[in-house]
Amino acid sequence: MTVDSAEKLLAPVLSAHWDEAESWTLASYRRHDGYQGMAKALAMAQDDVIAYVKDSGLRGRGGAGFPTGMKWQFIPQGDGKPHYLVVNADESEPGTCKDIPLLFANPHSLIEGMIIACYAIRSNHAFIYLRGETVPVLRRLHEAVREAYEAGYLGKDIQGSGFDLELTVHAGAGAYICGEETALLDSLEGRRGQPRLRPPFPAVEGLYACPTVVNNVESIASVPAIMNRGKDWFKSMGSEKSPGFTLYSLSGHVARPGQYEAPLGITLRQLLDLGGGMRPGHRLKFWTPGGSSTPMFTDEQLDVPLDYEGVGAAGSMLGTKALQCFDETTCVVRAVTRWTEFYAHESCGKCTPCREGTYWLVQLLRDIEAGKGRPEDLDKLNDIADNINGKSFCALGDGAAAPIFSSLKHFRAEYEEHIERGGCPFDPARSTAWA
Ligand code: NAI
Ligand code: SF4
Repeated sequence: MTVDSAEKLLAPVLSAHWDEAESWTLASYRRHDGYQGMAKALAMAQDDVIAYVKDSGLRGRGGAGFPTGMKWQFIPQGDGKPHYLVVNADESEPGTCKDIPLLFANPHSLIEGMIIACYAIRSNHAFIYLRGETVPVLRRLHEAVREAYEAGYLGKDIQGSGFDLELTVHAGAGAYICGEETALLDSLEGRRGQPRLRPPFPAVEGLYACPTVVNNVESIASVPAIMNRGKDWFKSMGSEKSPGFTLYSLSGHVARPGQYEAPLGITLRQLLDLGGGMRPGHRLKFWTPGGSSTPMFTDEQLDVPLDYEGVGAAGSMLGTKALQCFDETTCVVRAVTRWTEFYAHESCGKCTPCREGTYWLVQLLRDIEAGKGRPEDLDKLNDIADNINGKSFCALGDGAAAPIFSSLKHFRAEYEEHIERGGCPFDPARSTAWA
């Protein structure tokens, strides 16, 4: 496929104006129909807005793909309790890097989406929980919120609609587990972030024990365009069960890594055409469809449609659409060791399978990588991962087990080679993945 024809596959919506000067300002956002979706929503009945988003087929972009409109519909009405919207901007899945650039370049799309969502679920107070380390994003977000208040898009009686909304930006302290929605709520309430037992789901008992919608940045930022251009326009892209456009984060040994906004259902082969292919002279060895927590694929899955059903049927998960591509110079044992060290470090320690299991996985992997592994270690790795998977309190445990299972499935011979040779067959100087 030529680059010209590959580019026809792109569907820039959220990223359409990222390269314009001061794209993050209200003036720029307004020049491109900013706050028009909100105007349309505020003129509709609240339940109709929920039904509209549900009919659009929009699915959560944070990883799980749960239908957004359905989540809004779960919020009980007439219960006399305050309702909250909490936007999960604690992006930290390894390889995932779409929400932070989105917030940096186009924060008003999130603010507009939040106004629409809060109006629909009858919430008068919304929160953005952002990774605190991203200080430039935090500053830009604060500035965008200030602009929105000044323009009357936030605060009392928004645009004469009678609807009030306060928006608070909260900076987290940088723990991966605080991206798990219930740990995030604990952290927002001022406690140590650890997952809560679900059910009750946040929709019933969330922030301050009140009904709460927790949505990902990209999910909410997609809503204004749906309201403005229509659900049929949105459904005209993607597949029947996974409609619309989305941000794919292409990273690793790719000629032109970056964010590529395209319809759901595009393939990695097509995305690599857009990204200039693998770096010159090299070929794809393995890749993750949605961050390190999703089982890895090889070059045999280059034509799998990147939507929830397609990736699921091929044995993985679309997750956050973080496509990390590794070429033949990468030692898979080394890559899995680094990921597992991350999970062991970020495990909150609440449940034994994950707390202890991730520790022992790291010990075994480090031994194998250093050439001190024994043949029986491979079954042991599999056993420990099996004792974590589905037996842990939250999804972090399953995420830690995923690269172990999938790397053993595709690259068992490479693990064995480390053990037989008593060392890594790869020259670390040639593997730039972890430089
Ligand atoms: P989940 O499938 O358990 O839940 C998805 C959403 O649907 C949640 O908001 C949940 O409250 C809601 N929900 C599900 N069933 C419900 C019901 N019966 N009633 C009301 N609400 C209901 O997935 P989870 O554990 O929230 O997220 C896991 C995903 O997060 C993974 O697939 C992973 O890809 C992704 N992830 C993303 C990260 C990032 O940086 N964006 C980091 C780590 C993981
Ligand atoms: Fe904490 Fe890991 Fe258990 Fe999740 S699976 S509750 S991160 S120890």
